[in-house]
Amino acid sequence: MKNIESKLTESRSYKPSESFEKKANITKEILFELNSQYKKNPDIFWGELAKKHIDWIEEFKTVCSGSAPFFRWFEEGKLNVSSNCLDRHINKNKKAIIHISEDNNKTVITYDELYVLVNNFSHSLKELGLVKGDRVIIYMPTIPEAITAMLACARLGVIHSIVFAGFSSESLKDRINDCNAKIVITVNAFKRNGKIIEAKNTVDHALSLGCPSIEKCIIYKNINENTKFNKDKDLWWHDILAKESIVVEPEIMSSEDLLFILYTSGSTGKPKGIVHSSAGYLLNCILTNKWVFDLKDDDLFWCTADIGWITGHSYVVYGPLATGSTILIYDGAPTYPKADRFWEIIEANKVTIFYTAPTAIRTLMKLGEHLPKKYNLNSLRLLGTVGEPINPKAWIWYQSNIGGKKCPIVDTWWQTETGANMIAPIPGATQTIPGTCTHPLPGIDVDIVDDDGNSINKRNQGGNLVIRKPWPSMLRGIWNDEERYKQTYWEKYNNKYYITGDTARLDNNGNIWIMGRSDDVVNVSGHRLGTMEIESAIVSHEYVAESAVVSYQHEIKGEAIHAFVTLKNNFTEYNNTEFAKELREWVKEKIGSIAKPERISFSDSLPKTRSGKIMRRLLRNLARGEDISGDTSTLENENILAQLKNIL
Ligand code: WT7
Repeated sequence: MKNIESKLTESRSYKPSESFEKKANITKEILFELNSQYKKNPDIFWGELAKKHIDWIEEFKTVCSGSAPFFRWFEEGKLNVSSNCLDRHINKNKKAIIHISEDNNKTVITYDELYVLVNNFSHSLKELGLVKGDRVIIYMPTIPEAITAMLACARLGVIHSIVFAGFSSESLKDRINDCNAKIVITVNAFKRNGKIIEAKNTVDHALSLGCPSIEKCIIYKNINENTKFNKDKDLWWHDILAKESIVVEPEIMSSEDLLFILYTSGSTGKPKGIVHSSAGYLLNCILTNKWVFDLKDDDLFWCTADIGWITGHSYVVYGPLATGSTILIYDGAPTYPKADRFWEIIEANKVTIFYTAPTAIRTLMKLGEHLPKKYNLNSLRLLGTVGEPINPKAWIWYQSNIGGKKCPIVDTWWQTETGANMIAPIPGATQTIPGTCTHPLPGIDVDIVDDDGNSINKRNQGGNLVIRKPWPSMLRGIWNDEERYKQTYWEKYNNKYYITGDTARLDNNGNIWIMGRSDDVVNVSGHRLGTMEIESAIVSHEYVAESAVVSYQHEIKGEAIHAFVTLKNNFTEYNNTEFAKELREWVKEKIGSIAKPERISFSDSLPKTRSGKIMRRLLRNLARGEDISGDTSTLENENILAQLKNIL
């Protein structure tokens, strides 16, 4: 293959401050030590960490067994994930959850209280006949009861699958049927942007479309709102919950027993049920919370992800709770009732660690820096980002306006499939540069290879990002679809590497730069370019808030670039034709003529998944004049497609 060319240069870099370094969980010396231990002997490295950080009922004998694409970790080990998240933290009077609702009600739940809630709810689930290995769908917003439900399943060895509460009944039905769930747990309704969303109605509709495996629907009364109640199937959470405290012995689980299924959208066809195991998943969650987020006893960690995404699983629930930390959860919209909601919550609760997505940062940036300026954000000591490449402009904005120039930023690269952070800075040890997720974590062996699987040794040449060695929290497969698992992640390189589907390059200092998804690479006059760099150049213009680029067939160039652009609020009145010209010149100046977009379209927003990722696949259809194809069930803002069709 022709390599992917890189045009981006970024010279700003930041060392950890001395004061941060001094108190950090992982210093340069410890990092060096961890990396050399792994190199010496991966099995001893992972084995010792697993013994130290997990409470085992029975210890394992082997560390990693099996061969690609099927690996097993800590095989003979016995544990229970919910005990690791709860039982070992009780009687310490420690807060587990601070919940803020959209209406600004605050609830504080200690580990002792959460322990009682989870035990009692486990008891209810058990009474309904659920046993180890059964599947349960959780269709709830990020509220304490959703976390209770997750941990109660884990206590019984029941496999949970959370479906983001914004998904339609059709998507919900597909996921229920794919895993043959017996029970769905939901809320009567919840509020988002001040509007009432009747989640239970969506469940009813999904069930009416045909979900033969569902026996019962448990409804948590989340807000005061009337709900249709079907006597045959429905149960109220408060009716089945024991009034007195009942202890449920945690099920003795094997390391490799499944903990959860989480559906992620495939680019075409039906969603994939990514499957995660118990011990391996838990270990990488614990380690990355300590290493990357530097979590300590007195921290208040706010990860804004919904529990419906992997980030919510690993950095709201399992990682922080297994380390005995205190988390903040907020189940409202980021800009409701006012655009400064996030900053208000940070100030009022003295959040110390804040983890969010580039899409949120760009949205808040678009609204202006006067908003965070009104608040004292001094409690923050560490910021994180995940989900997409963060363009340097947004990184710098985040660092100056939210982090007060004193907080390290951890740009964490990982996937639903990897379970936990894979490439990320260690905040007390790594020098950061805006736009790069820096280096792989200890124990993670990544490479950048060409289409034949050879390492690309040349710096700043892009290629396919792969992981060469198994790691504990790797996916164990796709639910009920072994073929698809092999084909998607392993086939291209004959089981030699795990294929991430991303493209990346190494810079002169060995930092990894994610360049976008392999499917999104554009090919202009024989030059292959990643989307991230062109988008980043466009977004670096003062007027621009967001951009996505795709390619379409062009007589002369083979493919040409079509850029979709949204402007910052105060610049939307600008003359588009004039500005498109200016922007073309801007890109030429920043990257070179080769990356100059042939066409530029301006719109109010871009089509995104419900987790905030730009869906370039749909933009590609539009730019090429094709019908929209493939799965659109994850699309968040459907009317944007109509708007875009109109202007093209
Ligand atoms: C894809 C995985 C992992 C939690 C949230 C998303 C992109 C993720 C970064 C980052 C550049 C990133 C990749 C990856 N991605 N983090 N820090 N820099 N790109 O999980 O929905 O499974 O998506 O998100 O393309 O493959 P996901």
